[in-house]
Amino acid sequence: KGGKDQLVIDASQKHFGTTMCKSCGMIYTASNPEDEIQHLQHHHRFLEGIKYVGWKRERIVAEFWDGKIVLVLPRDPSYAIKKVEDVQELVDLELGFQQVVPMCPNKTKTFLFIDEKRVVGCLIAEPIKQAFRVLSEPSTTKECSRAWRCSDVPEPAICGISRIWVFKLKRRKRIARRLVDTVRNCFMFGCFLSINEIAFSDPTPDGKLFATKYCNT
Ligand code: ACO
Ligand code: ZN
Repeated sequence: KGGKDQLVIDASQKHFGTTMCKSCGMIYTASNPEDEIQHLQHHHRFLEGIKYVGWKRERIVAEFWDGKIVLVLPRDPSYAIKKVEDVQELVDLELGFQQVVPMCPNKTKTFLFIDEKRVVGCLIAEPIKQAFRVLSEPSTTKECSRAWRCSDVPEPAICGISRIWVFKLKRRKRIARRLVDTVRNCFMFGCFLSINEIAFSDPTPDGKLFATKYCNT
C-alpha cells in the first residue's frame, strides 16, 4: 500500500482512540478495519514467534522468580535454532534491521529470557576483538538519530552485543540488565567480563539509554 496514503489515514485518525493489545503490544485503531486486519496478522505471527513450549534439554544459565535465561549455541538441535531464528526475525522487524549476517555464526551465543511460556527477551552476542567507544551525542538532533559519534581509536573488547530486545509489555523490569549480567558471566568460561570488555553494536536510542545506564551502575 502506498506510504503517502497511509500517512493521510494516520493523520486523519489521530482523534480516534487507539488501542494497545495486551497480548502482542501492538498499538492500533480498533475502528479501522485495515488496522484491525494488520493487527490480527501481527498478533498471530508475533505470539507464535515468541511461544516457548520448553525443551527436553535446555541450557538454563540463570533463574529468577519471574523467569529464566536459556542459552542457545550454534550446534544445538534444530528446534532450538529455529526458535532463535524466529525470535531474531521479529526483533529485526521491530528494529528495522535489514538481514544482517552475523560475523561468525558458528560462535554466536543467543540468550533467551523466558517467562512462563514466552520468550520475552533476547540477547545475541558474538566474539569481537575491538570496539570503538561512543563519544558524546551530537548536539544538534537528539531524537531518532543513530549517528552517534564514535572514537576512531579501537579498544580491545571480547564480547559484542549485536542485538538486545525485550518484549514491549515487559520493559523496565530489568530483563535487559539481567541478560547482560548473564552474558558477562557466561560468555567466557571461568571469568566475569568487565564493562569494558563488552560492546553494544549500533545502538538504537532505547539501546543507548539502556547501555549508558547499565555501564554507569
Ligand atoms: N529510556 C530511559 N532509560 C532506560 C530505557 C529507556 N527506554 N530503557 C532502559 N533504561 C535504563 C533505565 O535506567 C533502567 O532502569 P530503571 O527502569 O530502574 O530506571 C535501566 O536502563 C535498566 O533497564 P532494563 O529494565 O533492564 O531494560 P529493559 O528490559 O526495559 O530493556 C531495551 C531495554 C532492550 C533497550 C528495550 O527497551 C528494548 O527492547 N527496546 C527496543 C529494541 C531496542 O531498541 N534494542 C536495542 C537495540 S541496540 C542493540 O541491539 C545493540
Ligand atoms: Zn495483539
